[in-house]
Amino acid sequence: MRILVLGSGGREHALAWAFARSPDVDEVVCAPGNPGMATLGRCVPVDVTDPHAVAQLVDDLDADLTVVGAEVPLVAGVVDAIEARGRLAFGPRAAAAHLEGSKAWMKEVLAAAGVPTAGHAAFGAGDEEQALAYLETLSGLYVVKTDGLAAGKGVVVTDSLADARAAVREYLSGAAFGDAGRRLVIEEGLTGPEVSLLVLCDGGEGAVPLAPAQDFKRIGDGDTGPNTGGMGAYSPVPVAPEAMVQELMRTAVTPTLAELGRRGVEYRGILYAGLMLTPDGPKVIEYNVRFGDPECEVVVPRLTSDLAVHCLEAARGRLESPVRFSDAACVTVVLASEGYPASPRSGDVITGVEAAEAHDGVLVFHAGTKRDDDGALRTAGGRVLNVTAVGSTVADARDRAYAACAEISWPGMQYRRDIAASA
Ligand code: AMP
Ligand code: GLY
Repeated sequence: MRILVLGSGGREHALAWAFARSPDVDEVVCAPGNPGMATLGRCVPVDVTDPHAVAQLVDDLDADLTVVGAEVPLVAGVVDAIEARGRLAFGPRAAAAHLEGSKAWMKEVLAAAGVPTAGHAAFGAGDEEQALAYLETLSGLYVVKTDGLAAGKGVVVTDSLADARAAVREYLSGAAFGDAGRRLVIEEGLTGPEVSLLVLCDGGEGAVPLAPAQDFKRIGDGDTGPNTGGMGAYSPVPVAPEAMVQELMRTAVTPTLAELGRRGVEYRGILYAGLMLTPDGPKVIEYNVRFGDPECEVVVPRLTSDLAVHCLEAARGRLESPVRFSDAACVTVVLASEGYPASPRSGDVITGVEAAEAHDGVLVFHAGTKRDDDGALRTAGGRVLNVTAVGSTVADARDRAYAACAEISWPGMQYRRDIAASA
């Protein structure tokens, strides 16, 4: 089959890498892709946020399956547009993607489904006084989130009431995140280790959990500084053994899918549950409607069954083939550009990628990179590369990943030194 991967990040590079290994895949096409993906298949330009442009491209390419990487195209209705042409796509339609498109709606669904989550209230543009008053009812740790999409950066977690109040004002006024923040959710702060559980769903009875991963959201070592899209990840996660995964499916994922079903919303694609293992038991922090990035980069290399087959079966509405993982561990470290996440600098020349890739067990997934006409690889965004390593244990994979990171450099490159250290 010909498979089209939509997107240009490390997640999409990892997906394209897995598809290129499938005996059932004749050709991988990437749109728009990146210099790493270009080594796996042809890259064609497209505006991924324009459903009609994407559907036209799918027709032009005669793609048998389109796999959508990111939330913005899904929320915009890319899957609906592709399916309207009688073609297969992996990912939820817009009605289901709304789960990530509106945190207020997600919380409403969770409440109706009886799924444990942080106490919360939602506020709109005229509600500043009520929002500030609600903050006063919380004890100690304040969480303010944009209702709409903000590339993983629209969340403030702080023990400072003054900072929380400032965030409420900046969000509601539109100063911080434009329309995405004019509606917001305030939550009680929870504590505990976080786990990302990615579940393969076929819109019917089929919902199969993939191996859990743990993401590192803050920019700095020791979980300091602002939230980012994710600075690294590892899998497996010792605090989330198989029994825990079954419990999370029973208490969170299955009731959520059932509640969506009651609302007439069919969920097909990856349902990503972001969970916190609190002293009061596991609670859902958020749902995302696609593979996590960088979680995808550590889950996919551990998969020993065929991802292309799983995605095709899900898109057709019936998961049949068993999903299997190796016992190996995987760690990915994000190399980010200077100024990330506030104002990343682009255009710096990157060296050492080939040397890193020559290390045993190492894969370098590209994210914010571009190839100049003169052949030089340059930074083109905040998260630039995902240096990923497979090893016999998490510690082994971690050592391999960091040894490979040491090969790569550009002016201002930054990365966390403590990814997977506590595992
Ligand atoms: P979200 O985009 O909702 O996943 O939030 C991003 C990150 O903020 C999460 O991965 C957590 O690290 C943190 N976070 C979100 N909600 C809460 C909460 N209620 N309590 C503590 N931390 C949170
Ligand atoms: N790594 C967090 C996310 O993909 O949302």
